[in-house]
Amino acid sequence: MVQPKVHELLNQQINKELYSAYLYLDISNYFKAAGLDGFANWYMVQAQEERDHAMLFYTYLQNENMTVTLEAIDKPDKVIKEHMDALKAGLEHEQYVTSLINDIYAAAYDDRDFRTMQFLDWFVKEQGEEETNANDLITKMELFGGDAKGLYMLNQELAARVYSAPSLVL
Ligand code: FEO
Repeated sequence: MVQPKVHELLNQQINKELYSAYLYLDISNYFKAAGLDGFANWYMVQAQEERDHAMLFYTYLQNENMTVTLEAIDKPDKVIKEHMDALKAGLEHEQYVTSLINDIYAAAYDDRDFRTMQFLDWFVKEQGEEETNANDLITKMELFGGDAKGLYMLNQELAARVYSAPSLVL
């Protein structure tokens, strides 16, 4: 049985993941306007993954016969003045989401809510990958993004990212 505190945090996470999708859509839009379609594609795929994350929390609550309450999604609030600002905003956001997942995990642990802990295991791993991806992108941008040819090549590489459904199925 999911206890009220864990229920509240799981429900809030639906909103946080949808905000994540909104943030990445905003970043994708920034890069589209800048003429960098590859970067725009990369963040669009990221936005699609975040929507999937929201749906996993939504479905988990429904499967556990817990109510789902949808709240307003905040406006993306990151200030992007140059390309690197967007990349750093992504990493900062993923670190924040990792802290949220950890908070839910800790609350479930306190309740001996093993089912929720098992559900969250996938997200613990996923957040590790998300932070690695965001860090790698910053490193590549630092190494190659400083000149037009390097930026062009990096843009080509990011254009190849394709969406795939999450490996977790509920
Ligand atoms: Fe759903 Fe990127 O955290």
